[in-house]
Amino acid sequence: MSYPYQVQTIDEYKAAYDKSISDPEGFWGDIARHFQWKKPWEKVLEWNFKEPSVKWFVNGRLNITENCIDRHLATLGEKPAIIWEPNNPEERVRVVTYNRLHKRVCQFAQVLRNNGVKKGDRVCIYMGMVPELAYAVLGCARIGAIHSVIFGGFSAQSIADRLEDAQATFIVTCDGAYRGEKVIPLKSVIDDALVGNKTVKRVIVYTRTRTAVSMIKGRDVWWEDEMEHAESQVEKEGVVSFPAEEMDAEDPLFILYTSGSTGKPKGVVHSCAGYMVWTAYTFVNVFQYQPGEVHFCTADIGWITGHSYIVYGPLAAGATSLLFEGIPTWPDAGRFWDIVDRHKVNILYTAPTAIRSLMGFGLEPLQGKDLSSLRILGTVGEPINEEAWHWYDEHIGKGRCPIVDTWWQTETAGILISNLAGVTPAKPTYATLPMPGVQPLLVDENGVEVKGNPAAGNLCIRAPWPGIIRTTYGDHERCRQAYFSTYEDLYFTGDGALRDEQGNYRITGRVDDVLNVSGHRIGTAEVENAINMHAGVVESAVVGYPHDIKGQGIYAFVIYQGRAGDPDANRKDIVQTVSRLIGPIAKPDKIQFVSGLPKTRSGKIMRRILRKVAEGESSNFGDTTTLLDPAVVEQIAAGRL
Ligand code: PRX
Repeated sequence: MSYPYQVQTIDEYKAAYDKSISDPEGFWGDIARHFQWKKPWEKVLEWNFKEPSVKWFVNGRLNITENCIDRHLATLGEKPAIIWEPNNPEERVRVVTYNRLHKRVCQFAQVLRNNGVKKGDRVCIYMGMVPELAYAVLGCARIGAIHSVIFGGFSAQSIADRLEDAQATFIVTCDGAYRGEKVIPLKSVIDDALVGNKTVKRVIVYTRTRTAVSMIKGRDVWWEDEMEHAESQVEKEGVVSFPAEEMDAEDPLFILYTSGSTGKPKGVVHSCAGYMVWTAYTFVNVFQYQPGEVHFCTADIGWITGHSYIVYGPLAAGATSLLFEGIPTWPDAGRFWDIVDRHKVNILYTAPTAIRSLMGFGLEPLQGKDLSSLRILGTVGEPINEEAWHWYDEHIGKGRCPIVDTWWQTETAGILISNLAGVTPAKPTYATLPMPGVQPLLVDENGVEVKGNPAAGNLCIRAPWPGIIRTTYGDHERCRQAYFSTYEDLYFTGDGALRDEQGNYRITGRVDDVLNVSGHRIGTAEVENAINMHAGVVESAVVGYPHDIKGQGIYAFVIYQGRAGDPDANRKDIVQTVSRLIGPIAKPDKIQFVSGLPKTRSGKIMRRILRKVAEGESSNFGDTTTLLDPAVVEQIAAGRL
C-alpha cells in the first residue's frame, strides 16, 4: 500500500496547502476517493459556524472498519495490525495480524448484536490497554454503536455521570488492569458506578488479571464465553464475515468526554467519514509513515491520542500499531527503550511529561538499548520545553530523527499544527505550520485579528477541517457556546499562541480555566466542585503552577472549617474526596488552607493573584485596589506551600 495523498517535499506541502484553501472541496474530495465507500458523497462540504453545522462528504455512506480492516486483507492479511506489549515484559507478546483483527472484530460485533446492541446505542468501554480494547472499539464501529471510552484513571462517580449523560446501555470492561506493580480493579469500579443506574442492561467482562469480581445474574457476562459463542456464528467453513453497518458520513462514531472551563465534562462527538479521512491523512503525512514500519504511540486509548493514533489513523493506513499495556518506569526506566529495541520501532510518539520524567533517570537506562530503528519522533499534549526537546533529539533520536511537535485537541480529532517529519522544518518548542485544510489565526481580547509577524494572541481556526467536533452529546448549544460563540465565525481553541517571522506557531498554553497536568486536561471548576463537596470545606479556588515533570501541578486554596487537628490528615481527606468524585488524575498536588480568597466587590475570585502566589511570587501582585479585602493577599502569600 502506498499513499497517493502523502506529501513528500516542502513544495508539495505548499501546493497541497494552497489547494486546500483555494479549493477545499476539490482537495478533500480527491483524498477521500482513496477510501472505501458504500455509496459516494453528493457534496464534499456544507457548513456554517453559527449553529454550528458541519457536514463533510454529504450523503456518502461507509463503514470505518471496512476501511481500517477489510480493505487491507487481500494485501496485508498476514501482516501485523497490532503488536501488543504486555505490562510484564516476561509475558508473551501478542501479534495481531489484519486477518486476526478482522476475525476478532467480527466476533465482537456479533457479541454486541447477540446482546441486543443496535446502531446508535451508546456503549461505554472501561478497560486496560489490551488488544480486546481495540476489538471492542472497532466492534462498536462495525455495527454503528457509538463508543464512549473512559480512561482507567476516572472514578466510579465520573463513570456514573458519563453513563447518565450518554444514556449508555452496555458496558465493556475488564476484571482488572495491570499498571506496573499495581492491579487496578476495573470491574469493581464499574459496579460502584452502576449503583442506582437505570439504563445499563449488560456488562461484558474480559478476564485480564483474574481479580475476584462480582458477576450479577442477568446483567454481567464473561467476554470469553460470549466470544466463543459468536465464533461459530461469524465463521463458516473457515470464512469469517460479519456485515459492516452502512453508516452515513455524518453519523456519530464516538463520544469522548473532556474537560472545559465549566464544572461538567463535555461529550465531544466525532462523525464517521470526516474523522476517518482526517486521522488517516494526518497520520500518513505528519509521521511520514512508510508501509511496514512499526508505529508506537504511548498514549492510552482512553484519550483522543490513543483513539486517533493507536487505533483509527494507523489502521486506516494499513500500518502496524504497537499497543503497550504498561508504564514507562516499570520494571525500570528503560522500558520504552527496551520496547523500541525489541520491536524495532520506527516511529515513537509520546508526551513531553514522559520525556521529562525519563530524563530524570539519566542515561543509564539507555545503556545497551539499540535505538537505531527509530526514524521519527513525536510529541503531543502540552508544550515541550527546550531542555526536553534537546534531550529527546540528542539521546533518543541521536540527532538524526526529525521531531514532530503536534498540536491538537480532543475536539479537533487529529493533528492541526505540526511540522511534517523530515519534510517541513522543525523548530524546538514550536508546533510550526498548519496542516493542509487548517487556517489558524490569532485574535486579541476583542476578537480583532492580529495580523503580521511576529504576533501573539488567542488561537482560532477559520474554517472546518474534516475532523472538527460536530456537537457535544445531548447539548448542541453547549458546543456552540464553548467553541463558536467567543469570536464570530471562528472556532476558538482555548489556547494562546505566538507566531514567529516565518509564520510558525508556538502554543503557549490554555487561556481559559483549564489545566494541563501531564498532558491531561482538567477543568479548575471541576476540581473546585469536588473539593467543595468535602464536608469541612467552605470555599475553594484551584489554579495551575509550573511543575518540573507534569508541566502543570494543581494548587488548591481552601477555606476550611471542618474537623480540627492535624492539617495534613485533613488535606488527605480532601484529596481522597477529589479522588472519589473525579479520579486519581485530578488530585491536588498542594492544598493551602486560607482564611479568605481574593475577591472583587462583585464576589469574583481574582485568579490572577492566586496564580502568582502558586508560582512563588511574594510581591508584585499588580493592582489589588479593586479587592474587597486587599490584606488577604499578603496572608495568602505568606502561607504559600
Ligand atoms: O493546550 C493544548 C494542549 O492540550 C490541549 C488539548 O488537550 P486534549 O484535548 O486532552 O488533547 C491532548 C492531545 C491532543 C490543547 O488545547 N496541547 C496539545 N498538544 C500540544 C499542546 N500544547 C502545546 N503543544 C502541543 N503540541
